[in-house]
Amino acid sequence: MKAIELSQPRLDAFRAASVATPEPQRGEVLIRQRAASLNFVDVAVASGNYPGPVFPLIPVADGAGEIVALGEGVTRFGVGDRVVAHAKPRWIGGRPRPYEMTQMRGISLPGSLAEYVALPANAIVPIPPHLSFEAASTLPIAGTTAWNALRAADVGPGSVVVLLGTGGVSIYTLQLAKAAGATVIITSSSDEKLERAKALGADHLINYRATPDWDGKVLDLTDGLGADLVVETGGTATFARAVNATAPGGTLFTIGFVTGAEAMVNLLPIIIKALKVLGNNTGSVSDLRDAARAIGAAGIEPVVDKVFSQNEATEAYTHMAAGGLHFGKLVFGLDW
Ligand SMILES: NC(=O)c1ccc[n+]([C@@H]2O[C@H](COP(=O)([O-])OP(=O)(O)OC[C@H]3O[C@@H](n4cnc5c(N)ncnc54)[C@H](OP(=O)(O)O)[C@@H]3O)[C@@H](O)[C@H]2O)c1
Repeated sequence: MKAIELSQPRLDAFRAASVATPEPQRGEVLIRQRAASLNFVDVAVASGNYPGPVFPLIPVADGAGEIVALGEGVTRFGVGDRVVAHAKPRWIGGRPRPYEMTQMRGISLPGSLAEYVALPANAIVPIPPHLSFEAASTLPIAGTTAWNALRAADVGPGSVVVLLGTGGVSIYTLQLAKAAGATVIITSSSDEKLERAKALGADHLINYRATPDWDGKVLDLTDGLGADLVVETGGTATFARAVNATAPGGTLFTIGFVTGAEAMVNLLPIIIKALKVLGNNTGSVSDLRDAARAIGAAGIEPVVDKVFSQNEATEAYTHMAAGGLHFGKLVFGLDW
């Protein structure tokens, strides 16, 4: 089969390759891959900033496609079913032990930039009927993480949610939070992106370049209380302000490192406000299934900013690595 390989950790080290087509084993399905979605983690792998990859590898963790063959014993799915694949196929549900965490698509398992992939039937989820392959390919990492953020903070009508930047996770969380009846405050470096977020339902817009003390603005907007949920995607440059912007008893959902992974923390506000500082590692297949069901029920259309072909991997990765160029998700449409 045809594939794109990443030969070494460099954003320009992609090459066309011909590799053996996988055979679905017992309990597996063979998927013809139709779309793949880029995440920050893929860029980290291709930049040498993520532990574990062995090169060459078939890159990109997230993907969607249709089942073309069933391994022995598979009864839950049929040929022709449209599915998304979880990036960590061993993590079906519950608390992950090392066994569940050791394998990840695009790092230690073949990723989505190939014609076919064989995966356990337990690791795939049906695509909500209203979604294209391209839109659905964004579900596993960004969609599941956004869904887990809302659940972690029990977000519902009246909740206040703060989102940092307008990347994939923030925009998914915006859409899910509005569907749940929450008030959303979103920040961005760009007024034009803030207007796009407003069109998706964002209630309050803060340009973090024009207003570097955006946490103070969050407090102004919430009568000094702060937000019930802050989705902390920024890392080094944003963590302390995110602590300040979180309401007493609120949830600081600590997931990202867009500006770096190290932060100096004053523990006192966390202690005094009794914050729930929660880490998250995307989620399990069960979480993905719940996220897909919610996105299907709410009729949410994932925001795909730009679609690349599989032959434009360097362009796509460079686009994401540049930071600030996209709004929502970057996707590969796969046509071999
Ligand atoms: N732990 C998990 O479960 C999990 C899951 C998914 C993602 N993540 C992590 O979460 C982070 C975001 O992921 P993503 O896929 O949404 O990334 P992304 O699509 O690349 O979005 C990054 C966005 O961050 C914003 N940004 C950059 N500097 C900022 C700053 N100083 N203050 C506020 N916003 C800033 C930019 O928004 P503007 O252009 O609007 O300024 C940019 O578009 C990444 O670190 C990723 O690895 C973690």
